[in-house]
Amino acid sequence: MATIIPVASFDYVVFGATGDLTTRKLLPALYHRYKDGQIPPTSRIIGASRSELAVEAFRARTQDALKRFVAADDLDEATLAAFLDHLDYVAVDGAGDDGWPDLVAKLDERPDQVRPFYLATSPDLYGSICRNLAKFGLVGEKSRVVLEKPIGKDLKSARAINDAVGEVFPEEQIFRIDHYLGKETVQNLLALRFANTIFDRLWTADVIDHVQITVAETVGVEGRAGYYDTSGALRDMLQNHILQLLCLTAMESPLNLDANSVRDEKLKVLRALKPITAGDVQQVTVRGQYVQGAVDGKPVEGYLNELGHDSRTETFVACKVEVQSWRWAGVPFYLRTGKRLPQKLSEIVVQFRAAPFSIFPEESFGREPNRLVIRLQPQEGMKLEVMTKDPGPGGMRLRPTNLDISFEETFKQRYPDAYERLLMDVVRGNATLFMRRDEVEVAWAWADSLLKAWADRREPPRAYPAGSWGPTAAIALIERDGRTWHEELR
Ligand code: BG6
Repeated sequence: MATIIPVASFDYVVFGATGDLTTRKLLPALYHRYKDGQIPPTSRIIGASRSELAVEAFRARTQDALKRFVAADDLDEATLAAFLDHLDYVAVDGAGDDGWPDLVAKLDERPDQVRPFYLATSPDLYGSICRNLAKFGLVGEKSRVVLEKPIGKDLKSARAINDAVGEVFPEEQIFRIDHYLGKETVQNLLALRFANTIFDRLWTADVIDHVQITVAETVGVEGRAGYYDTSGALRDMLQNHILQLLCLTAMESPLNLDANSVRDEKLKVLRALKPITAGDVQQVTVRGQYVQGAVDGKPVEGYLNELGHDSRTETFVACKVEVQSWRWAGVPFYLRTGKRLPQKLSEIVVQFRAAPFSIFPEESFGREPNRLVIRLQPQEGMKLEVMTKDPGPGGMRLRPTNLDISFEETFKQRYPDAYERLLMDVVRGNATLFMRRDEVEVAWAWADSLLKAWADRREPPRAYPAGSWGPTAAIALIERDGRTWHEELR
């Protein structure tokens, strides 16, 4: 059973209170934490945005949001009403002076609370909101600032944001969210690697042939085309979520779970990524953009139709990456992500080398190498494929069989959303699952090398029909090396 450890009493100030992230993710996550008894009764959640809204209107909006985004079984009227009582609202202009004295007055009512300021706004506002927080005397030992991705769109803009925020908050009080780090199975990756002896001994280039990381989505760009078109799959998913998964897969054992120990090890992996150049970009990367097709049996429009104008932004990216270190020399990491793919699926596949020699008659062996599949979503779990003998007579016939753990079936409890864990970690001041400034910047430096190589080649993205696994070139990318993407029909 889960153990609920209540956090210290807080005033969570959420800038961008009427936005999509707050509505879909933050408020439902806080509701769940409240329902589970983790939020002390004296805590408040204070929505802040430019809209002039009465507190009652903010509560009514929140009630609607929770009815949409929390499972009906988890919503009971009494808990909902009690949760809404903890909500407050102030109209504040993040970029100007308006409304700040009202926020100050509200926070002054409870000076001893932990004060996280969650910036669920456009990153353009991060600097000015932080300057205002300082100017109006709201930054103290118990305050923290939470930054949503994207932190910039390249190294230069990321540095500018980090500088602006860093002028106001010391690094220990800055929490850069990558919500993939809050996913249960991502934390399980730490347990798998560092709480079991069997895997660590095998986690080397001698035994591992290659690693694949796939984050596939069936959705298109939804209502976010404006943002997405300035970003694309590389900036939106690869530079952050997928590189973080790569770091946790490839890093050495940290000294302990302290934020800096873990982040020091992830940073070494990022530093070891071989930059991609104009010379090799065509061999090792594929950019794609979806065109009309069908997902889940339903016809869907192409990206350009959704957008309403021409664009070369990629909605799919696949690449082969090298981690230049002793442990990983010669072991390629194949990464891919895209919108409008056939399944929502995130997984890490560790493909071991084939047995060096077969004592079995060739036709019965199949020579399937072992494979560890770590499923992040859906149906979180792990599967290790091992060779076994087919039962009964008929000779020594071998086939791969799965040692399969479904976390849902094993633990029989609700899997909390990533934001639930992360929002509470901010209150606790535990930054282990957040990104440090240097990590974000090194990841951008690597992404910039790829963006520059693409810009130099000036190739348009390759078309792929919505509902397919991306451009055929992505299949060729891995098959050239004599390997295939792990694709199982589920
Ligand atoms: C976000 C991206 O960070 O992650 C979105 O901006 C993407 O484009 C989302 O859809 C995916 O998150 P999840 O948790 O649904 O895999």
